[in-house]
Amino acid sequence: MALSQPATAASSSVRNPYSVLPNWLYPAFVVVALSLFGFYAVWVVFFQNQGYYAPYVSPFYSPLITVGPIPPGVWVAWAPLAFRLTCYYYRKAYFRSFFWHPRSCAVPEPKRGKYRGETAFPWIFNNFHRFAFYATVVQVGFLWFDAVLAFDFGGRFGVGLGGVILLTNVILLSGYTFGCHAFRHLAGGELDCFSCSLAARARHKLWKGVTVLNIKHDRWAWASLLSVAGADIYIRLLLAGVLHDPRWVI
Ligand code: FES
Repeated sequence: MALSQPATAASSSVRNPYSVLPNWLYPAFVVVALSLFGFYAVWVVFFQNQGYYAPYVSPFYSPLITVGPIPPGVWVAWAPLAFRLTCYYYRKAYFRSFFWHPRSCAVPEPKRGKYRGETAFPWIFNNFHRFAFYATVVQVGFLWFDAVLAFDFGGRFGVGLGGVILLTNVILLSGYTFGCHAFRHLAGGELDCFSCSLAARARHKLWKGVTVLNIKHDRWAWASLLSVAGADIYIRLLLAGVLHDPRWVI
């Protein structure tokens, strides 16, 4: 088959729903959103000591470790931070938006030095994404534990707005984490036959499940980023007495 095929009727009729938006909108959004989140995360992790308003734990502080004068966020925030920084989707987003490297497909890049890809400092660290995934899975486990405890009001079951926010957050984070490209490869990669054994069939099922999440990985990434910030802001407003948690306790 020839490599360059004329567009078929079906393919030419598929419209990119974003084509009506100006070209600069997406990179501008990425730069603004990631910068705001980055500044906010630094402020929370290094300059704040409180992230717990019973029974809610901020996702930046989970698991809650208090040792000496070191802010609790320092012990845990490195894992999700490394996970997002090395995420395949975020790599595409920040390389294109912050560095124009490249700005988009088939667009010439600004002149720069020798291209070494991710074989040299600092981008070589992007190759450790799989290990960041392992660490983040552990943290997501703690966040599920926190989300369950968020419905426990001194031994009585209750539903508060904070519990709903923490539960939503961990669902979105799980969708993001378990739709990871590295996890998809772990589930179904390096298999020549999906049906040749019980283990291979189980891996195929897992791979199909991960693929469902992986298809919308970018949306899970943004939704979970917003939910992490939102959950922390809500707890901080409770701590400051600005808000009161509406709750219904049995
Ligand atoms: S590729 Fe995005 S979290 Fe792994």
